[in-house]
Amino acid sequence: MPAGLGAAWALLAAAFLAALLLHRAQARRPGGGGDSNGGGTASGLFQDLIRYGKTKSGGGQRPAWLRRFQVPKRWFTHFYVVSVLWNGFLLIELFQAKFLGAARPPWIQRLHSAFGRDLQNQNTDREHVSALLVLLLLWLHSFRRLAECLCTSVFSNGVIHIVQYCFGLGYYIVLGATVLWQVPINVSRGKESSMQICWYHIIGIVVYVWASLHQHRCLVILANLRKSKSGKVISLSHSIPFGDWFERVSCPHYFAELLIYVSMAITFGLDNVTWWFVVTYVLFNQALAAVLCHEFYQKKFTSYPKHRKAFIPFVF
Ligand SMILES: NC(=O)c1ccc[n+]([C@@H]2O[C@H](COP(=O)([O-])OP(=O)(O)OC[C@H]3O[C@@H](n4cnc5c(N)ncnc54)[C@H](OP(=O)(O)O)[C@@H]3O)[C@@H](O)[C@H]2O)c1
Repeated sequence: MPAGLGAAWALLAAAFLAALLLHRAQARRPGGGGDSNGGGTASGLFQDLIRYGKTKSGGGQRPAWLRRFQVPKRWFTHFYVVSVLWNGFLLIELFQAKFLGAARPPWIQRLHSAFGRDLQNQNTDREHVSALLVLLLLWLHSFRRLAECLCTSVFSNGVIHIVQYCFGLGYYIVLGATVLWQVPINVSRGKESSMQICWYHIIGIVVYVWASLHQHRCLVILANLRKSKSGKVISLSHSIPFGDWFERVSCPHYFAELLIYVSMAITFGLDNVTWWFVVTYVLFNQALAAVLCHEFYQKKFTSYPKHRKAFIPFVF
């Protein structure tokens, strides 16, 4: 069944890659700006489903039937509330199973038997520590993002599609469960527990901290575009960000997000195929969002820096 879980993430990654390619094909067509208010109904719906926030509103007034399915983009905050609660719960579960030998609730055991790994001959102790660390990193990431949504970011009246909202709510639940299911079912219950820290745990955490610091800095830069020197919000418009990794790419916070997931793959020991499919999903998901954002900036600002890439410095 872990192969099925990996396949599900791979499918999701493929869907976002297909959406990216389709969008680029639409944008290249004569007269096809790829806005959600242009083209036929199917094309409009497609664009409405892949765009959110400034890249949705940047296309002008959308048809009334599309606007019926929108919710405020500031509701992104709910994703992180769900993640902090759910992944906090999973973290405590995993911690208790490893260090206190506590039995898991029957419903978790059933799900684990269906989706989890059962590696009799592997070093389950190390796998357990890796999963604990990744879950901790995921929880810290969600907590920081929640704090940023509440205290740092300045949201405008941007919107997201209700489908995107539901996807975001489910995403962090499945993500945490994916981490939990990487722990072999035959965990060391009752055995003397130890904390085997390896080189890849250390490197993973260092990359995670580095990427998180840059992501936070970039989100502060975006927030400051709308504030006066005294910190008062003076505008809700979109302007050109400068500084930190913005000097290289339009969406450095998306690039940092990718690095954060790569850091978790390193913490898993680099050989967790399921997690690499998660990384691939984040790669294509954030690449699509970055391309739309890059196009938005280029269209809106004639003076937009020409050397900036969309997503990955010097590459894409
Ligand atoms: N793992 C995943 O699947 C996933 C998916 C999506 C996002 N994320 C992560 O979540 C974080 C936020 O993503 P996002 O898509 O919401 O980022 P975003 O669109 O860049 O928005 C971030 C904040 O900055 C504001 N903003 C954006 N561009 C601006 C500009 N040019 N001038 C002034 N303010 C601006 C936004 O306000 P508005 O209200 O106007 O938009 C919002 O408050 C990112 O770090 C991203 O990597 C992860």
